[in-house]
Amino acid sequence: MSASLSEVLTEHHKACDEAWALAEERAGEGRWDEAGVQLKAFTAAMARHLSTEETVLFPAFEAATGIRGGPTLVMRFEHDQLRQLFGELAAALAAKDGAGFAGAGETMLVLMQQHNTKEEHMLYPACERALGSDAALLERVAAGLK
Ligand SMILES: [Fe+2]
Ligand SMILES: [Fe+2]
Repeated sequence: MSASLSEVLTEHHKACDEAWALAEERAGEGRWDEAGVQLKAFTAAMARHLSTEETVLFPAFEAATGIRGGPTLVMRFEHDQLRQLFGELAAALAAKDGAGFAGAGETMLVLMQQHNTKEEHMLYPACERALGSDAALLERVAAGLK
């Protein structure tokens, strides 16, 4: 049995969480070069995740339900907040600012966890209800995350 839309996206959340944990660990140790490599891997994976949701999943949900000013609008707004925090993390890393990196990292992690929880418990199930088992959509989402 192949994975569902919700499972594929939830698995990718976990992969992103693990990438972040490595970046945070290296930065906490003051190993800035390695932290930089890990942060890049994390933000690249997140960039793929956020843009796949914004360009593939959310438009499909919006088209199927006619709902544009609801949950997907909130999720898009939170994506922008996350992107801003990724910028702050990159700046703190470039400056080897441990306190700044830790502070931005804590804010980012709380926001990302709340965001992902809302998606996993509300939006992804709502997408599955609205879109059914759309194999072509699932394929486009999986391809976007890679
Ligand atoms: Fe999202
Ligand atoms: Fe997500």
